[in-house]
Amino acid sequence: LPLHLGVKNLVDSGLHKVPDIYIQSKEGRPNAVHREESFPVLDLGAALNSSKARAALVSQIREACVNWGFFQVINHGVPHSLVDEMQSVAREFHALPNEEKMRYFSTDIESRMRYGTSFNITQDKVFSWRDFLRHSCLPLSEIQNLWPDKPGSYRKVTANYSTRVRNLAKFILELISESLDLPKDYIDKAFNGCSQVMALNFYPACPEPDLVLGIAPHSDPGSITLLLQDHVEGLQVMHGNEWYSVKPIPYSFVVNLGDQIQILSNDKYKSPEHRAVVNSSEDRMSIPVAMGPSWESLVLPASELVEGSPVFKPMVYRDYMAAMQAGGLHRKWVLDALR
Ligand code: SIN
Ligand code: FE2
Repeated sequence: LPLHLGVKNLVDSGLHKVPDIYIQSKEGRPNAVHREESFPVLDLGAALNSSKARAALVSQIREACVNWGFFQVINHGVPHSLVDEMQSVAREFHALPNEEKMRYFSTDIESRMRYGTSFNITQDKVFSWRDFLRHSCLPLSEIQNLWPDKPGSYRKVTANYSTRVRNLAKFILELISESLDLPKDYIDKAFNGCSQVMALNFYPACPEPDLVLGIAPHSDPGSITLLLQDHVEGLQVMHGNEWYSVKPIPYSFVVNLGDQIQILSNDKYKSPEHRAVVNSSEDRMSIPVAMGPSWESLVLPASELVEGSPVFKPMVYRDYMAAMQAGGLHRKWVLDALR
């Protein structure tokens, strides 16, 4: 079977064993995970309207960023009906016939929209058990005409959803700025606004889930990612050298720090490694919205946070992203090369 057609195509053909290229090395396979009840869940509701509540939230965010680099947000203001619509169009997209999805297939890692499988099939030594559509969201008026025209409401729903999530991300980045004792618009100015890319990840149920990964361990390259997961558990985050499973909370977003915040913070905050596992009974879908600096921004540690010499060398965000896409998922190799 042609593997570039994706994992859903393999599973739909009635497969009972996973092909060798998907089999992770023994150390890389999903193992037993800890469950952590105190995984931070932040309620944004009050802080959207009161400055006292905002100050309290800034300290909660600081604690979550120092300890985890990961938190979930609830009462975030993005309407539940819009979240439902986004999940539906994403599911409908992945359910389209192969010919339709393959109109968008590309292995060009720099393209502004591509349908694909694994991560970068021209490079991946072991394939991830994932099909995806990945596209830019900015500038909206231009890019939305490139987005899929099926399902029929895809463009309208995604335009609306990506705008609401971008505004939420801007609010969270202000809180993160303040949590670093910087002015609230510091990150926005340092990053010259933002870039925004989203993905529709589809992880089909797998006949041998203990041998594969939905997505291999990595940290996200950008500023912050706001991830919507469905009801199926699968996201795991590395904390103190162990993997923890992130239990889905309906209508919440999982927020994780990306490498550019680790750079800007001069290593005060860390971008957490995470991965996704799959299971034998249910498909899983996740929709990450990855915010980043604007593409031409030169990112470097904030001078306010540097004592002595900066921990990281500067790099233009476009080059950083290109390096990661080209080199593939090997833990935090791009960031570590800047030390
Ligand atoms: C990702 O890191 O891009 C996806 C994680 C997930 O599916 O939960
Ligand atoms: Fe990620």
